[in-house]
Amino acid sequence: MSRLRIGLIGAGSIGRIHASSVKSIEDAELSAIVDVRLERAKALAEEHGVNKVYKDYVEMLDREQPDAVIIATPNYLHAKMTIDALARGVHVFCEKPMAMNAEEAEKMLRARNKSGRILMLGMCQRFRNDSKAIRNLVLKGELGDVYFTKITLLRRAGIPGMGSWFTTKAFSGGGPLIDLGPHVLDLALWLQGFPKPVSAKGYTFSKLGTQNKCLGGWGIPEPGGPFDVEDLAVALIRLEGGGVMYLETSWALYTKEDTFNIILSGDKAGASLMPPCKFTETDGKWVETRIECQEVNVYLEEMKHFVECVKKNTSPDPLPEHGVMVMRLIDAIYRSANTGNEEKV
Ligand SMILES: NC(=O)c1ccc[n+]([C@@H]2O[C@H](COP(=O)([O-])OP(=O)(O)OC[C@H]3O[C@@H](n4cnc5c(N)ncnc54)[C@H](O)[C@@H]3O)[C@@H](O)[C@H]2O)c1
Repeated sequence: MSRLRIGLIGAGSIGRIHASSVKSIEDAELSAIVDVRLERAKALAEEHGVNKVYKDYVEMLDREQPDAVIIATPNYLHAKMTIDALARGVHVFCEKPMAMNAEEAEKMLRARNKSGRILMLGMCQRFRNDSKAIRNLVLKGELGDVYFTKITLLRRAGIPGMGSWFTTKAFSGGGPLIDLGPHVLDLALWLQGFPKPVSAKGYTFSKLGTQNKCLGGWGIPEPGGPFDVEDLAVALIRLEGGGVMYLETSWALYTKEDTFNIILSGDKAGASLMPPCKFTETDGKWVETRIECQEVNVYLEEMKHFVECVKKNTSPDPLPEHGVMVMRLIDAIYRSANTGNEEKV
């Protein structure tokens, strides 16, 4: 196969990053850029020397017949665009969250199965060297039986695109739980070999966004638009095998500092992701071992992986099956926050 011809759908914040990644991959090229805001597609196309721009992704798919697409549009479009592309035999890299809910995600999986093409999700955090190092520790059994995982992704003032699709439930599906949750839930499960989530007890709050406070730098704000999603989500998740995960994730919260970490505790040792280290007790002494890891450009690494999977016809890691499990878990947390009950995943 010659260079992979990729169509980019969505020339917004993350679309721009993916465009740069594709540019630095020898085996791939951007063949067209699509955005309903044509001026965004045109500006990005000019920066990258792409001469095909479209407003309508279906027209792009039919006219350009790309080998693959990158879907970097608001969440409510992920399922439809993925299914339309797969139905035309086009490989898909789709941004997180996989979809608005598990039902949509399952339809995407069925479309993948029917097409035989590759569907990879943008789980860029898996491509960090520290993620890989901690996963190796767990899989080698160095932590023993992991029975508690603490997942923290707290932003104090990080509401993205206030008033835009990000803060409008009908377009986003929710707040930090569906926005940040897919990254850290996927990562926490992947680090320990993806045990199946069994049930969840969840809580959501919407306290600061409703006051137009704690706005962040990501996204394109649309002043005057709605904020009808949560700004904090907390959950306790039970896993097959008996383990428990505790999740806290916010876009807006009066707390001490922004925090991103996953701490895994097993019956032999524990490990944290940031900074990557292992801790245990030896002869009554606490031992903490730092693991040195080089930083990488995770967006470039994930795109290289996607291109390689398409070229070699190999299965991507992250698998869309994992994406479906994460969407089921997110659904259960939202359901639980509504009913007040522990909900089955
Ligand atoms: N992996 C990550 O780290 C990461 C980071 C940020 C965002 N994301 C995800 O990427 C997606 C996009 O986020 P963003 O921050 O780039 O948003 P954004 O609002 O900056 O960009 C979205 C773009 O999609 C365009 N668009 C909307 N409807 C369209 C349509 N029907 N056809 C073509 N284009 C259309 C918009 O005009 C906009 O330019 C979201 O699903 C988000 O969750 C992932």
